[in-house]
Amino acid sequence: MTSYKELGLCNTVDLFKKAVAGGYAIPAYNFNNMEQMQAIIQACVETRSPVIMQVSSGARKYANSHLLRNMARGAVEYAAELGYKIPIVLHLDHGDSYELCVDCIENGFSSVMIDGSSLPYEENVALTKKVCEYAHSRKDYVSVEGELGVLAGVEDEVSSEHSHYTQPSEVQDFVKKTGVDSLAISIGTSHGRMKFKPEQCTRTADGVLIPPPLRFDILAEIEKRLPGFPIVLHGSSSVPIEYVKMIEKFGGKLSDSVGIPEEQLRRASKSAVCKINIDSDGRLAMTAIIRKVFAEKPDEFDPRKYLGPARDELKKLYMHKNKEVLGSAGQA
Ligand code: G3H
Ligand code: 13P
Ligand code: ZN
Repeated sequence: MTSYKELGLCNTVDLFKKAVAGGYAIPAYNFNNMEQMQAIIQACVETRSPVIMQVSSGARKYANSHLLRNMARGAVEYAAELGYKIPIVLHLDHGDSYELCVDCIENGFSSVMIDGSSLPYEENVALTKKVCEYAHSRKDYVSVEGELGVLAGVEDEVSSEHSHYTQPSEVQDFVKKTGVDSLAISIGTSHGRMKFKPEQCTRTADGVLIPPPLRFDILAEIEKRLPGFPIVLHGSSSVPIEYVKMIEKFGGKLSDSVGIPEEQLRRASKSAVCKINIDSDGRLAMTAIIRKVFAEKPDEFDPRKYLGPARDELKKLYMHKNKEVLGSAGQA
């Protein structure tokens, strides 16, 4: 058994308190490999931002849970070596069972999400409560994120055809009965690079899709019922058009890509939304650069020569998010 404190990690409790009070959001970046981890740490150290490094069950299958845990330990030492100790959380993204949450907690995670959002309400309450009771009874308190409402979108392990918004009438009861430390809500974001169907969007003159706005009215209603309580947004990639175009220029096909405009994430960050999840944008950044290198240097076969530039681009993207979108830069 490993406690997250032995790894030099922290839970989300104090970070969220400060973020809600300070009107910014902490980035939650997914990672599956060393280059992603390096980019996250470099960007967050350089911008002096706290960070949540999150691992999905797909990532655990891909990379191995022991390796990921030790990468998180390495991330703490790497940040110190880069010259500034930032708060780092190791978080389970979209945990789908009590057993998985326990396994992660016993193996050094400082925070877990139990995603019972697709279950009937009372089952979601019971499962989330069970995870909270275990996580909070640990000597080193592990924080728990629950979810109410369903996001649309398709990823490896997370998929749902249709979304339904969080019902504000349920949030107080859910938080009180479960004891969660934060709540993920559905107000119009969704997973992946195609967040809306073209028919839900308008188009600019040059054909770029403009998505419908997030439901800030629902967010306001939730905040009224849970004053100051930490709120989480999943599915918050902006799907930058430059990356989509670069991928298509160098042979990819990503039609109908559309994300959440940065302006709306900036607005959300100033509210009780204190954790914003971003994965797809990083996938796009890496893919765009790797495709470019392959197209421009067909004789290149040293992985460092395409993973290195991809890592640099990822770092640039994360620095931009921390500084210009989430407002987390300078908060570590
Ligand atoms: O919300 C899901 C994350 O983007 C993780 O995706 O299950 O493909 O690792 P994944
Ligand atoms: P994106 O697909 O919008 O990056 O969302 C990631 C996410 O919510 C991870 O839990
Ligand atoms: Zn998610």
